[in-house]
Amino acid sequence: MDKNQTILIIDFGSQYTQLIARKIREQNVYCEIHTHQISIESILSKSPKGIILSGGPMSVYDEDSIIIDKKIFELNIPLLGICYGLQLTAKLLGGKVEKAEDREYGKAILNNFSKSKILNNVSENSVVWMSHGDLVSDVPDGFKIVAKSEHSPVCAIENSEKNIFGVQFHPEVNHTLEGKKILRNFLFDICKCDGDWTSKNFIDKSIEEIRNKVCADDVICALSGGVDSTVAAVLVQKAIGEKLSCIHIDSGLMRKNESEQIEKIFNEKLELNVKYIDASELFLSKLKGVTDPEKKRKIIGNTFIEIFDEEAKKNHKVKYLVQGTLYPDVIESVSVKGKSSLIKTHHNVGGLPEKMNLKLIEPFRELFKDEVRKIGKELNIPSEFLSRHPFPGPGLAVRILGEVNFVNLELLREADNIFIEEIKNHGLYDDIWQAFAVLLPISSVGVMGDSRTYEKVLALRAVASTDGMTADWYHFNSEFLATVSNKIVNKVKGINRIVYDISSKPPSTIEWE
Ligand code: XMP
Repeated sequence: MDKNQTILIIDFGSQYTQLIARKIREQNVYCEIHTHQISIESILSKSPKGIILSGGPMSVYDEDSIIIDKKIFELNIPLLGICYGLQLTAKLLGGKVEKAEDREYGKAILNNFSKSKILNNVSENSVVWMSHGDLVSDVPDGFKIVAKSEHSPVCAIENSEKNIFGVQFHPEVNHTLEGKKILRNFLFDICKCDGDWTSKNFIDKSIEEIRNKVCADDVICALSGGVDSTVAAVLVQKAIGEKLSCIHIDSGLMRKNESEQIEKIFNEKLELNVKYIDASELFLSKLKGVTDPEKKRKIIGNTFIEIFDEEAKKNHKVKYLVQGTLYPDVIESVSVKGKSSLIKTHHNVGGLPEKMNLKLIEPFRELFKDEVRKIGKELNIPSEFLSRHPFPGPGLAVRILGEVNFVNLELLREADNIFIEEIKNHGLYDDIWQAFAVLLPISSVGVMGDSRTYEKVLALRAVASTDGMTADWYHFNSEFLATVSNKIVNKVKGINRIVYDISSKPPSTIEWE
């Protein structure tokens, strides 16, 4: 990856901002998302090849609308405004934005083309995706309108001399059929990016950065057994070798046989220097009687911190902590000017570094899971390990609604294992982002043989997603569900009823707590 080829995305709160980043990276161009508060100096210090102003939920005329320093248009850096980004560009440069008579949500047809760099090779009548209530009614001096639609007299504008462009629609969503072409026009023809952001380049560059950062200090990593922290540890180990030590804490909240499998992979395949600590009893004793989801998360997070802290203190040379934080962890944990609210405490983001006075190494802070998997592949991490479904830091504790105890854990482990094995046997594992069982805190009446039973209800959850930010419930065929339901009820004593979760995210979340 060449960070000198960066595209800066400035976020005004659009639900699609991350999608812009993905679409750019898919073109092998590196990009970073920053809030609208970024200063002109910081922008310049990154020497971006181009800037994108994202969409946003506001109107540029709202009292609390967020804006950006007008100097951004004087930097001689190509700029593309998308939706709100276009309207902001128009307003700040002297054009006019008004409430649209007909708000435009959904598909629209581009027409009335003029020759342009941004829409080069895009076909007349191309379908685009709109989502706006305001429209540009007057373009600033120096700009020309290069496309319209039925409800938007200004659908795309450009100032080809200053390399400033704006589109009312969203080129980043798949419904904009030639969106990729439009982004490519911007990235390659206008910004002159080389498109050399590959996993291999990313690894080389990160290794160099980590070495320069760490110098003579030591580094520690809490290895959860998940893909992100493992790939991060292997990358850091490649950079600094034995100066990295890893700790794996078995919380007792893992899935069936998971800790053994993890130990085997770390020892035999990855040659990581790992210390294993079995803390299952401690975790369970602290969780006794606790039913509130956020309390559970906090207790688990704090217990990890305590154990880790004690271990880390044994080596005074440790100054850095490696975390496998991903981009979605960062956004879901921060509230930006009240535009996105805190949904759940993801404990891998906060806690440890403040308490321990350690500096962070987070090589994947700007990446999505599929990008980390590609990097893991490049680092020769076995693919069966990389393709594992994500597993939350608090483990099965957030999949047992109500109190977490050993009996409930064993029930859930058995049932979950049957579900996952069946998914694998049917060849569905890689189609599914995440599948798991959830033990509900209710019992229901059943009949087995001639006897009445009064046992637990188990929910099955499976979702399709690309990054965990949004998700659809997975449509199994009914025979598959019948097979799993039968097997679980027959084999797991203590569960007599199975339900399947058919909610998507939003409005639900993937995990139940
Ligand atoms: P939700 O439930 O918020 O989950 O839709 C989105 C993704 O994040 C995972 N998840 C976590 N991962 N620590 C983690 O490392 C956590 O505390 C945590 N909570 C949820 C979840 O499994 C899904 O993939």
